[in-house]
Amino acid sequence: MILDSKAEIAKIDKSNACGVLEALPEDCEKALRNADELKLSYKKPKRILIAGMGGSAIGGDLARDWLKDRISAQIEVYRGYELPRYADADTLVILASYSGNTEETIGAYEDAKKKNCMMAVVTSGGELAKMALKDNVPLVLIAKGFMPRFAISHLFISIAVVLEKTGLIKAKEEISSTILALKSLREELKRDTPVGMNEAKQLAMRIGERIPTIYGFGPFKAVAKRIKTQFNENAKVPAKWEFFPELTHNEIVCYESELSKLLFPIFIRDKAESNKYSARINIAKEIISEKCETAEIYARGDTKLAKMLSVMYIGDFASVYIAILRKTDPTPIKEIERIKNALKGVKD
Ligand code: F6R
Repeated sequence: MILDSKAEIAKIDKSNACGVLEALPEDCEKALRNADELKLSYKKPKRILIAGMGGSAIGGDLARDWLKDRISAQIEVYRGYELPRYADADTLVILASYSGNTEETIGAYEDAKKKNCMMAVVTSGGELAKMALKDNVPLVLIAKGFMPRFAISHLFISIAVVLEKTGLIKAKEEISSTILALKSLREELKRDTPVGMNEAKQLAMRIGERIPTIYGFGPFKAVAKRIKTQFNENAKVPAKWEFFPELTHNEIVCYESELSKLLFPIFIRDKAESNKYSARINIAKEIISEKCETAEIYARGDTKLAKMLSVMYIGDFASVYIAILRKTDPTPIKEIERIKNALKGVKD
């Protein structure tokens, strides 16, 4: 079985995506130490906008899902060139771009500056780092050498620490306990753990040629989206995501169609989910199971963050294992690069 052979995996996984995933808990520790050095002396913001794209924006989505019920400021993730009209001097804009060269995020930086927003930059370098240094904007300079989506530890944790430094929330303690939970989960998900005991490998094998369709709810919306994008970028396959309760008002009807047999629905679950969610997910699952084989990923850990990141970790590993099964190198993303290159120099 290819997934149980490190040598076979290495032949396909040329840039060692598996190794990068296995190192995620230690990267979280490094990210926490690094971000903690930031000095931030802004007044408490009324609104927080996290601007970024793709693998950088999802760090903001995770922070929003985690913190939105404990932070008094409005918190939103923004993907685009220009910020919404309400961005003003009471708004903290966190510009997150792993490369620092993403044109939408650079546009958002310029707009935040124009609108006199409070600003902070999270990047590994590029234009954004240069701009932040020149403008004296607080900067979290994160480790180089990752593909942006694999730098999620650095992006998410840096964003969370910036938020803690506004004085609006406490983040570091729960991050530290989550890292311990991820270390123990890694033992189950890593390459050395055989299929029989490895939830991510099993999930990858069950999905096979079907379209992974991840259904989140409550704190697991960004996680569902993250897993979907990981299936796209690592496994290079179509994937979908939706969330409860919304999907029971539209998506659910697609299961009348024979086309839905192409899907492989994956439900994110939490043993502590409320009865309302539980009942809704169960009835939806009953309907969907009449057409499709389904799977569930149960959150691990005791805290909200541990639950969110444990599901993400299982999904991230599964996406890389699907790539291996499809004999596809998980790391390159040539279409994204082709578009970025084609757009270089295009002016409005
Ligand atoms: C690549 C990836 C992409 C990038 C996106 C924005 O691994 O995940 O979605 O994150 O193209 O680039 P950055 O993150 O450099 O701003």
